[in-house]
Amino acid sequence: MFNFTYYTPTKVVFGRDAEAQTGTLVRAQGCNKVLIHYGGGSVIRSGLLDRVKSSLDQAGVTYTQLGGVVPNPRLSLVYQGIELVRREGVDFILAVGGGSVIDSAKAIAYGAVDEGDVWDLYDHTRQAVGCLPLGAVLTIAAAGSEMSNSSVITKDEGGVKRGYNSDLCRPKFAVMNPDLTTTLPPYQTASGCTDILMHTMERYFTPDGNMEITDSIAEGLLRTVMKNALILRDDPKNCDARAEVMWASSLSHNGLTGSSQGDWATHGLEHELGGMFDVTHGAGLAAVWGSWARYVYQDCLHRFVRFATHVMGVADSGSPEDIALRGIEAMEDFFRSIHMPTCLSELGITPTQEQLETMARMCSAAAGGAKGAAKVLREADMLSIYQMANH
Ligand code: NZQ
Ligand code: ZN
Repeated sequence: MFNFTYYTPTKVVFGRDAEAQTGTLVRAQGCNKVLIHYGGGSVIRSGLLDRVKSSLDQAGVTYTQLGGVVPNPRLSLVYQGIELVRREGVDFILAVGGGSVIDSAKAIAYGAVDEGDVWDLYDHTRQAVGCLPLGAVLTIAAAGSEMSNSSVITKDEGGVKRGYNSDLCRPKFAVMNPDLTTTLPPYQTASGCTDILMHTMERYFTPDGNMEITDSIAEGLLRTVMKNALILRDDPKNCDARAEVMWASSLSHNGLTGSSQGDWATHGLEHELGGMFDVTHGAGLAAVWGSWARYVYQDCLHRFVRFATHVMGVADSGSPEDIALRGIEAMEDFFRSIHMPTCLSELGITPTQEQLETMARMCSAAAGGAKGAAKVLREADMLSIYQMANH
């Protein structure tokens, strides 16, 4: 048995044309003025932004807007957003986009009700005192921010990418129309699928394991996402596959697929890659996962064996070490099959030894010295994993 708290207050409106309900959902929040927050332009090109605005108009909701969120969202735009929210008397934030837009909205929502510097939260020197309510119209299945308690922001100077978790920021609602994701470039679809897999795997590879019900949900989710990622590789407009993956993105990161804290070392390692090299999050995870897995599997052998046989379809024959390694290889083969990198050069970067050392130092510092559950990693371990991945 495990002790845990499960809290998912987000109302989900899922399916075709769901965005038409946005105005009604916002109105039900009883707010007066909305900030529509969005990214670099995909929502303008697709016509989604106009549809959302007309839904708000129909519901009699007034709004202002701020676009320009980039992947690995920047603190500088968060500051602009906070200023705008205060100036315009905004009392609800509507994120129209992916994880980066939702995370930027969450940071603005914290900062709007906080007299201090919102970066303190991401720097882990202070806890949030409150948060404006927010909602999301999701356009990419990936980060799971639409139901999660997390947000990840990058400080412009020095490229410091840090996350902050608090239930205060969980969205009030998430509008999820899988059709909206058919315009994604294949690389973003595959990176998104990788991130979804990783959110469940981070919760799966723990020495104590999970409850059987949780493991069954997790394994089913992993198999379903891999199957549908392959369908989307060949048939990007397949709406059924889009729907499977979109719902998985939320379920993978709303706490359903783990009974304990989880490992999260691969995410820690990726956040440094994202901060220093501005790589796409999911691709960065794929590029280090295999090296992480080979470095830690012997310390968490029974979970890697279960993963190999229950998720990757590896035959239950040979030594536990052999089975575990075949499971890791099978996952790397899957990443290759959806054109995800399995090392840093395939990610398009070739860090110097000094850069690897800097990332290991920052990764360890961000975690307060050590990170991981499958194996507790310290700075030297993190450097070893980066070095293993650096080819
Ligand atoms: O900016 P636009 O023009 O919208 O383009 C985006 C962006 O370039 C594009 N895109 C999104 N929806 C689209 C689309 N293009 C065409 N059609 C659509 N329907 O895709 C690109 C990536 O968008 P982004 O929001 O960055 O993707 P994602 O959802 O993967 O978010 C990544 C961020 O989330 C963080 C990551 O670290 C990264 O910063 N994470 C947030 C988490 C959380 N809050 O719980 C957990 C995750 O582990 C992750 O760390
Ligand atoms: Zn992630």
